[in-house]
Amino acid sequence: MGRGTMAEIIGTGSAAPEKVLTNFDLEKMVDTSDEWIRTRTGIRERRVADENTATSDLAAQAARRALEDSSLGVEDLDMIMVATVTPDMNFPSTACLMQDKIGARRAAVLDIGAACSGFIYGLSLARSLIDIGEYRTILVIGAEILTKITDWQDRNTCILFGDGAGAAILQAGEEKKGILATHLGGDGSLGSLLALPAGGSRLPASHQTVDERLHYLKMAGNEVFKSAVRAMGDSAVTVLEKVGLTSQDVDLLITHQANLRIIQATAKRIHLPMERVYVNLDRYGNTSAASIPIALDEARRRGLIKEGDTSLLVAFGAGFTWGSAVIKW
Ligand code: UT7
Repeated sequence: MGRGTMAEIIGTGSAAPEKVLTNFDLEKMVDTSDEWIRTRTGIRERRVADENTATSDLAAQAARRALEDSSLGVEDLDMIMVATVTPDMNFPSTACLMQDKIGARRAAVLDIGAACSGFIYGLSLARSLIDIGEYRTILVIGAEILTKITDWQDRNTCILFGDGAGAAILQAGEEKKGILATHLGGDGSLGSLLALPAGGSRLPASHQTVDERLHYLKMAGNEVFKSAVRAMGDSAVTVLEKVGLTSQDVDLLITHQANLRIIQATAKRIHLPMERVYVNLDRYGNTSAASIPIALDEARRRGLIKEGDTSLLVAFGAGFTWGSAVIKW
């Protein structure tokens, strides 16, 4: 710890495209049913960006709302981190592109590549930079347009994903509240179970990669499911142990929103009743790095997080990566 400061979240914001794609719409596109999707995943509908919208647009919208919520101006931002697996382009980074959109010229800019765990990785890094006194105010965003890397012919994956962005502003505070602890982990040996195979230096874009549909996300759902349940449970237990808390101290659990059964398993692992778990994947599907900050913003705006509360955030994603955070409000 640096100088007795602790990073606290002083504002949140989120954004999602207007267009809604329901399970019934999907029934017309692939061999699936609303019933299968609801019972296997908990998802009812998701948001889909139009062709003119890129990830930095949603990120900028969420950022503006977080700035408004915190009563700060863009000139207050020392750094911007954007967690995403669907950048506008390979480079410049999405953080650079959205920095320009909101006019935050003073801010250092960084993209985070930790897939669905990216927002928690961002929180952890931002908190550390604030705690050591390097920066005072950091904007952390999770933003995705997964529907543009979704294979709409693959029923195993196309029912799962949606678009959106969520943002949180962290600032050095003096009081005993803020991000109490974070825990991060990863296992690169299982990377191929959830990946976007082509378009990088391993398999550059070619006619063949396009013909073989290798620019779309591929996932071995069931394997990912099992790892997610294990890693999220372990990470939740570890981060609570770090600060000497138990699930009885947790007022609200916000996990990555990939599958209701995974969320239920995580809650069960730490003996937390579902009444204290925030779920919104029925309306957004899996929005990868955006899912936790969107849920966090909604929960705050709905009055589900009060002064003095303790929240637990838990994520899991491609890589594999995982992470969690305990926040005292
Ligand atoms: O965000 C990063 C982390 N991602 C996740 O955490 C996702 C983790 N995985 C999951 O959420 C689940 O594994 C899925 C929802 C993707 C799949 O659920 P599952 O219970 O693991 O099903 P399954 O893959 O074992 O497939 C069961 C059956 C298969 O049929 P057979 O082989 O048993 O005859 C699939 O072909 O369901 C079939 N199926 C479908 N049926 C109707 C797969 N997708 C669909 C579909 N509609 N959309």
